[in-house]
Amino acid sequence: MEHALQVEILKELMGQLDAGKNIDAGVQYRMPTTSYICPEIAAKERESFFRNHPQLIGLSGDLPKPGSYLTMNDFGIPILATRDKSGEFHAFLNACRHRSVQVASESRGQKSVFMCPFHSWSYANTGDLINIPDEDHFGAIDKSCHGLIELPAVERDGLLWVHPSVDGKLDVDELLGEELAAEFASYDITRHQFVGEKTIEMELNWKFANDTFGETYHFGKLHKDTLGRLYYGNNLHLKEFGRHHRFVTANRGIDALRNMPEEEWNISQGTFVLYHLFPNVQFLVDKNTATLIRIYPDAENPGRSVTRISFYYTPEVIAAVEAEQSAGGKVEDVYDYEGRQGVIGGIEASMEVFYSTVEREDYLMGEMQQRAAQTGMLKEILFGRNEPALHHFHQNYREALGQPALQPVEPA
Ligand SMILES: [Fe+2]
Repeated sequence: MEHALQVEILKELMGQLDAGKNIDAGVQYRMPTTSYICPEIAAKERESFFRNHPQLIGLSGDLPKPGSYLTMNDFGIPILATRDKSGEFHAFLNACRHRSVQVASESRGQKSVFMCPFHSWSYANTGDLINIPDEDHFGAIDKSCHGLIELPAVERDGLLWVHPSVDGKLDVDELLGEELAAEFASYDITRHQFVGEKTIEMELNWKFANDTFGETYHFGKLHKDTLGRLYYGNNLHLKEFGRHHRFVTANRGIDALRNMPEEEWNISQGTFVLYHLFPNVQFLVDKNTATLIRIYPDAENPGRSVTRISFYYTPEVIAAVEAEQSAGGKVEDVYDYEGRQGVIGGIEASMEVFYSTVEREDYLMGEMQQRAAQTGMLKEILFGRNEPALHHFHQNYREALGQPALQPVEPA
């Protein structure tokens, strides 16, 4: 992110903190709870946003070298993603051309040849069918026409994109827009290495999960003993990029910047920067670290979802964390803000802190919201003037699904 923009955002947040005023959209909305419980809406979402929509499946660091692969089954079709020996990224339907069994079953690893467990047909990581056992018994087929089914796949500025349909349109420039694409390019995300992942499967609609990342109003309340010790809450800089947005909020490190010359200000010392990529991705990123949060609906039940959280650090940060840990850093230190929150105490410990806050605090709220919505008695919930990222997401969502826009609440 350009330095002038970092300064502008930091000043805006300092101003909000000084004035004791959160961001103000000037409008409130009522949101129908049917959106979180209705099976017909859920089926439409899966079709529009998951089965037929470009998917960000990970970062370049998830496929760190030639022969790396990933599998997933989160958005309706089984995917095998690979990096071939020339370094090129591919995505395939994870299904053998003989009798359609998955050719890779581990979630990630190193492998250049994938052998189907059923009859041992083998495929290269370019998708080429390379061996059919007992071929003389099976009978001749043209191997060149029976490679793995390849899907549109693009690796751009450290992000791995896939379209789950063979003839799906995957235009990353159009999807992100020039401004957001340039901002992502500025983070050098190709340098971020995968260090671990956590999965949360809970009884809440995927949008309730998504919504917990959409305001800072709750930081000092729900998270008062955890994240609230690091972040002020009740302050937000929001920038929309089409259906996506950037969400920046101050941590307590912002105070140290006030005594420093502006040329030395660094946004990641005083805030966290989170991008919402429509519809289901939350992406926290700076030049040193990244956390990718992908939220998926359950295929059967609108009241369930799966959240995959992947963590990445640059090699320099990994080395620094390991040195810190061998010097005796503890998990408790994660909350002693020194401009390095989230990594002190070791990689495992900092992943645990992040994941457990989401699971035990935010998503616990989401499960209660879900239960109340499912009674059918609570027809609507409210989004306040201080929750504009939620307005943005839900208005986009409704437009994309062909639903009428939310109407502003009449001022009291
Ligand atoms: Fe939260």
